[in-house]
Amino acid sequence: MLRCIIVAAALVAPALAQAQSNAALIEKGRALFSDPALSADGRWSCATCHPANGHTDNKTYVGLDVVADGDARGRSTPTLWGSGIRTANWSWAGTIPAIETNIRGIIVNRMKGAEPSKETLEALAAYVKSLPPGPAPFLNAEGPPRDTAPADVKRGFAVFSGKGGCMTCHVPAAYDKKDPEDVGSGGAFKVPSLRSVSRTGPWFHDGRYATLEATVDAMWDFYKKKNDSKDTLSDAEKRDLVAFLRAL
Ligand code: HEC
Ligand code: HEC
Repeated sequence: MLRCIIVAAALVAPALAQAQSNAALIEKGRALFSDPALSADGRWSCATCHPANGHTDNKTYVGLDVVADGDARGRSTPTLWGSGIRTANWSWAGTIPAIETNIRGIIVNRMKGAEPSKETLEALAAYVKSLPPGPAPFLNAEGPPRDTAPADVKRGFAVFSGKGGCMTCHVPAAYDKKDPEDVGSGGAFKVPSLRSVSRTGPWFHDGRYATLEATVDAMWDFYKKKNDSKDTLSDAEKRDLVAFLRAL
């Protein structure tokens, strides 16, 4: 009996210590996320561009300068919500496997800050990956709509996963994909997670689309042409697709 307790304690103690040290790391990362000392001029923190606990300010940047949406050099600020469930490589280029490498690049190149320590990068990475996806009450844990979802959301998912071809790239639960794809938007880019996508506009890497409707049109036109598909999407089906995207 006593031996059982000792064995159980020996198994639980390291797991508990691990969970506690991870929670401490996340708290450290949360503080660093709002710390402007990471930037060269002490005016920019991660939270400046990713306000509301790691979300997006919906702006398009070159370095620290806001540029016009659609500027080929510009990069739209992505949401960090749901980072922990994503499978895509990091950055719009979609070529960076480790989030720590990506965050280091942002501090050194974009914020012109000092070389961060390994501990700083680990803490920021732990915090970012701890951010839950935005609320999506109509989705089940695997990503598809629940039975209780509105009819247009369910019809939209049927198009998304069927003739729309969207799910060949945007795979649940995060609705992304590991490797980048060239969809004719100026090179290969990350297949971005579509969770919370109704709140991340303007859309595409350079923020070229101001509405979800225009984004869906562009994606469908690309898919149809690439696959030489004889299928068409009616206006009603496109509206359903947008309704589904708004539920993500
Ligand atoms: C000046 C605004 C700005 C600041 C400050 C900023 N970011 Fe970002 N962040 C962006 C933009 C724009 C991108 C997309 C850049 C790209 O991929 O080319 C991005 C991308 C990211 C990504 C990649 C997300 C993905 O889906 O690939 C992570 C992670 C991230 N930022 C975390 C941070 C952290 C942590 C900090 C603070 C150290 C920070 N950001 C500071 C604007 C900013
Ligand atoms: C061949 C892979 C592929 C297919 C198929 C595909 N997408 Fe995409 N999708 C991408 C890539 C890559 C991007 C990013 C392009 C860029 O930023 O230049 C993207 C971007 C998006 C965005 C904008 C996300 C953001 O944060 O800016 C939406 C919305 C979207 N896709 C919806 C759809 C829908 C709806 C379909 C089906 C009609 C679809 N996609 C089919 C690869 C694909």
